[in-house]
Amino acid sequence: MSTSGDQRVAAVVVLAAGGGTRMKSKKSKLLHELAGRPMLSYAVDAALALDPRRLVVVVGHLREQVEGHLNEHYPQVSVVEQPVRNGTGGAVACAMAALDGAIGEVVVTYGDVPMLTGSTLARMITEHRTNGNAVTVLTAVIPDATGYGRIVRDGGEVARIVEHKDASPAEREIREINSGIYVFDSELLREGLPTLDTSNAQGELYITDMVGYARDHGQRVGAFQVEDLWQTEGVNDRVQLARMNAEVNRRIVENWMREGVTIIDPRSTWISHDVTLAPDCVIQPNTQLLGTTVVATGAVIGPDTTLRDVEVGEDALVVRSHGELAVIEAGAQVGPYSRLRAGTVLGANGKIGSFVETKNAQIGEGSKVPHLTYCGDAILGEGVNVGAGTIFANYDGSHKSPTHLGDHVFIGSNSVLVAPVDIGDGAFVAAGSAVVEDVPPGALAVARSRGHISVQWVQRRRSGSKAAEAADTASGKIHEKVAGARAALDAEQQAREANK
Ligand code: UD1
Ligand code: CA
Repeated sequence: MSTSGDQRVAAVVVLAAGGGTRMKSKKSKLLHELAGRPMLSYAVDAALALDPRRLVVVVGHLREQVEGHLNEHYPQVSVVEQPVRNGTGGAVACAMAALDGAIGEVVVTYGDVPMLTGSTLARMITEHRTNGNAVTVLTAVIPDATGYGRIVRDGGEVARIVEHKDASPAEREIREINSGIYVFDSELLREGLPTLDTSNAQGELYITDMVGYARDHGQRVGAFQVEDLWQTEGVNDRVQLARMNAEVNRRIVENWMREGVTIIDPRSTWISHDVTLAPDCVIQPNTQLLGTTVVATGAVIGPDTTLRDVEVGEDALVVRSHGELAVIEAGAQVGPYSRLRAGTVLGANGKIGSFVETKNAQIGEGSKVPHLTYCGDAILGEGVNVGAGTIFANYDGSHKSPTHLGDHVFIGSNSVLVAPVDIGDGAFVAAGSAVVEDVPPGALAVARSRGHISVQWVQRRRSGSKAAEAADTASGKIHEKVAGARAALDAEQQAREANK
């Protein structure tokens, strides 16, 4: 898609100084996300796809936030401030001042038009060159053009652009709109920008006036119409943001289905931009795959599952669970109803069952933590079985400490392992134990008080209660049974004697 060598465009200028007031947000509009990425990143990526000699982003409102994002993720971008927001013409003029001496095409795009693709830009540049244009404007024909600048044609040729607020009633009938995306000849901009003025309904410098300027100076102006209307759509408020997010997601989901992923319910499946799915994995309804989650072939995720930055191995199953910064290796099973926190690594064919919370826990191959457990700051060997209700007590109120379980350790149900503690290979812990010291390999640790049974306590201390009555009946029944058994034995004895 890139135009290489001296075929490269001189610059792409991304306009991003606008207020974004309708978002009603402390966060810059440009950093609000679509499919898990800031909308500005989409605009910058489309620009970078052209491999331009220079990339300039014009910032203004909430400048520090926008600049911070660009410096962190796109060090190659030149950030230019527009000190006064005096219109799109003023914004381009700021960029041109920073692009002193640039020769060739200058592409102008918007930071808040995230669905525009690099390939649309590349096609537009090809057309610009083929037709020898001085300006090419990206346009679209839409059902309701209210608010947009209109493309005024003269004998089929683009004559000028008129803003909605400046348009006559007849011009407002025009349905071909200006997207605000252009390819300009840099010379034209250098000559024309100083001639812009603010004698219009909004008292701003309009970049759109460059179209009329080019025509008046005998230069060619072209329009490149895009069919996919989403590519010209801007985001101004959170209603538009949600609508566009749904569309971006719909395209991502559809793309994965075409790549061989089974998605049972596309509408309730949310997949972020940077997620990777292998063919023949299955995504059940109500599932969110976020961050840089990776799912291998044969794995089944969901229903009702959220995974952020999780790696899922081949044929693993994750049902109704929540995971973050975790690895689930091949053939392992998770859920229903478990929470995998940062640093969880579940080994191949292992199991994190129901109502289990794990954090910074490395669970060896084939090891199982099937029911109702908290497992934090732990390393478990292979073939371990952790009984229901076991708690890894990793926190003493001020410090976190680790627990180590060797291979083939067996932890009886309802135990508490008080860290730091080390349980050797093959050791067993009896159910209900509170383990506070290390257990050597192969040992049985019974760490609980011995039980005591006080016979007929209920009849003595709760006489007259239903419990006592039930207990009496039970002992009566035993007496009857014993008497019955005795009678049978006696009868047998008599029979044997009679036969002698
Ligand atoms: C602009 C166009 C209009 C087009 C519409 C498409 C002009 C005069 N009008 O109108 O023909 O149909 O976009 O959405 O250009 N910006 C700056 N600095 C400024 C003003 C704007 O950087 O001083 C940036 C904004 O951040 C935004 C873009 O330019 O990304 C467009 O600004 P906006 O105010 O939305 O332009 P419109 O009036 O909608
Ligand atoms: Ca706008």
